[in-house]
Amino acid sequence: MRILVTGASGLLGTKVCQLGICKGFEVYSGYKQHRPQKGIPLQLDLSQRNKIGKIFDKVQPEAVVHAAAMTNVDKCELEKRLSWRINVEGTQTIVKVCKKYRSFMVYVSTDYVFDGDRGMYTESDQVNPINYYGLTKLMGEESVRNIIHQACIARTSVIYGSIPATGKTNFALWLLDKLRKREKVQIVTDQTNSPTLNTNLAEMILEILERKLYGTYHLAGGSRLSRYQFAITFAKIFDLDTSLIDPCTSDEMSWIAKRPKDSSLNVEKAMQTLESKPMVIDEAMEKMKSSGTFLSC
Ligand SMILES: NC(=O)c1ccc[n+]([C@@H]2O[C@H](COP(=O)([O-])OP(=O)(O)OC[C@H]3O[C@@H](n4cnc5c(N)ncnc54)[C@H](OP(=O)(O)O)[C@@H]3O)[C@@H](O)[C@H]2O)c1
Repeated sequence: MRILVTGASGLLGTKVCQLGICKGFEVYSGYKQHRPQKGIPLQLDLSQRNKIGKIFDKVQPEAVVHAAAMTNVDKCELEKRLSWRINVEGTQTIVKVCKKYRSFMVYVSTDYVFDGDRGMYTESDQVNPINYYGLTKLMGEESVRNIIHQACIARTSVIYGSIPATGKTNFALWLLDKLRKREKVQIVTDQTNSPTLNTNLAEMILEILERKLYGTYHLAGGSRLSRYQFAITFAKIFDLDTSLIDPCTSDEMSWIAKRPKDSSLNVEKAMQTLESKPMVIDEAMEKMKSSGTFLSC
């Protein structure tokens, strides 16, 4: 299968490309700034809409994993026009060209489409984003639903993994780095989600793609944890000192955008449908540990 991955230099896209190649797919790796290491690199800037059609003319992908986005939640709050252009208009363009070329599309969305008042959201629960990033990702979902039938909306939650992507770290690698240097960290106890290992997520997305499963799926880790519980579990599995982790609350953080309190996702549909199941936290962290590539940035 010939696939195009947008955001191929990102935390998720890197894994989708790597595992897609292992499956024997012809993988085109779309990026904006950071040239991906895996697949056939293609510069694809979501804010340059007229160029995206030309890329599709050339590649004619049978399937597209649209993982590119402006993912910095605070930056989206500050730079609303830019995040709208990338996350909403960029997605609309991808959807339209997928329709034109009859490419099956997986749109990677987020748990931040929910307000986080109760958690364990199912695919059919009411959405109500409380920050601009969540709103732009929801508008991306709406474009997919309104324009194309051959598509899957895959909502995920706090991605972590062993490969630093896009020149930035992720929560798990940041924690590993700090605790190895024996630095104290403050981690919030009042933010709960479904942490998701990038490898596990990439496997589930590739299965969706191979089986062409339509509709909305929650593809996330199988455990509901606060950030603090995540950090403690991580430290234990990686044999690090848990006493370096101090609990704190969100109001002590200098965040710009509001964060949902509990945006954990119910993954029962994925559990029932997929061969690649959402992993519980210990299993996923052990997998990350055994991969042995947890480099710091
Ligand atoms: N990370 C999370 O915790 C999380 C949680 C829920 C949902 N998601 C969703 O999952 C998807 C993947 O997230 P991630 O963490 O892997 O992202 P990431 O590591 O932050 O990477 C973002 C990717 O998007 C690309 N990108 C940014 N602006 C672009 C533009 N204007 N044109 C084209 N490409 C652009 C980047 O390319 P360059 O590096 O080349 O600039 C990079 O490849 C996103 O859609 C995100 O909304 C993420």
